[in-house]
Amino acid sequence: MDQSPHRLPSPPDGAALRQAPAASKSPSLASPTVVVPIRSLGPGQLARITAHLLALEPQDRYLRFGYAANDEQIQRYVDQLNFDRDELFGIFNRKLQLIAMAHLAFAVDPRRVSCAEFGVSVSRRARGRGFGSRLFERAVMHARNEGVDQIYIHALSENTAMLKIARQAGAVIERDGSESEAHLRLPPADFDSRVTELVKEQIALTDYHLKAQVRQFRGVLTLLQDIRRGVRNARQRVFG
Ligand SMILES: CC(C)(COP(=O)(O)OP(=O)(O)OC[C@H]1O[C@@H](n2cnc3c(N)ncnc32)[C@H](O)[C@@H]1OP(=O)(O)O)[C@@H](O)C(=O)NCCC(=O)NCCS
Repeated sequence: MDQSPHRLPSPPDGAALRQAPAASKSPSLASPTVVVPIRSLGPGQLARITAHLLALEPQDRYLRFGYAANDEQIQRYVDQLNFDRDELFGIFNRKLQLIAMAHLAFAVDPRRVSCAEFGVSVSRRARGRGFGSRLFERAVMHARNEGVDQIYIHALSENTAMLKIARQAGAVIERDGSESEAHLRLPPADFDSRVTELVKEQIALTDYHLKAQVRQFRGVLTLLQDIRRGVRNARQRVFG
């Protein structure tokens, strides 16, 4: 498999690309009953991105990058992230740890500007909650709004979960031995996709800032408790 998670795969020759079903008809693209705040990530989140990826176990690194990336290779991947060209999305827990992230890499080749490649990882403990599907749905919406009409996913054929996400979204999957490529043709952007993305981003940013405030408030409480404990100890030492 291609060792570069950035590189955009070539579309299979003569491959018939199926049109993605309308969002309301596709299970993965349907509106989830639970809103998962997914925000776009910028350079300010580099430390969290690194921590998330370094925490992936060897098998997950293998599934994510197509090879068993070591820490150095992951660091190089992070260092080469291009936030101007590509889009990264993330889901945070209450401690503001990045528990799931997706990378939508836009084509570097000017002849293929309408293509993008999707890569994703979800922390072990956060799996099976639909985060992978939601991130794909979000990336699809963003890609449509950016004028992209084809999304590709390189996955190992053993990667049942990833291939299921792609298949449920209507992607055509081409298996080539141990590797598979999923390609999904996207409908053009419309008013709904543009407004929905704006609203979702706003909800996610609000959620992130609320979590940050709660963390800050907890920090202040802990500090106050420490001060109170210190004063009490000092009093006991003085007055016995
Ligand atoms: C692939 C991955 C992102 C899926 O994340 P996730 O949040 O657990 O996925 P979801 O919860 O959205 O599940 C998607 C579907 O796959 C199914 N699924 C999840 N894990 C599965 C597994 N191990 N085996 C079979 N099906 C599985 C889910 O039941 C769900 O199907 P449903 O909609 O019919 O219920 C996650 O397993 C991961 O990070 N793997 C390592 C990195 C990787 O493989 N990246 C993809 C290559 S770019």
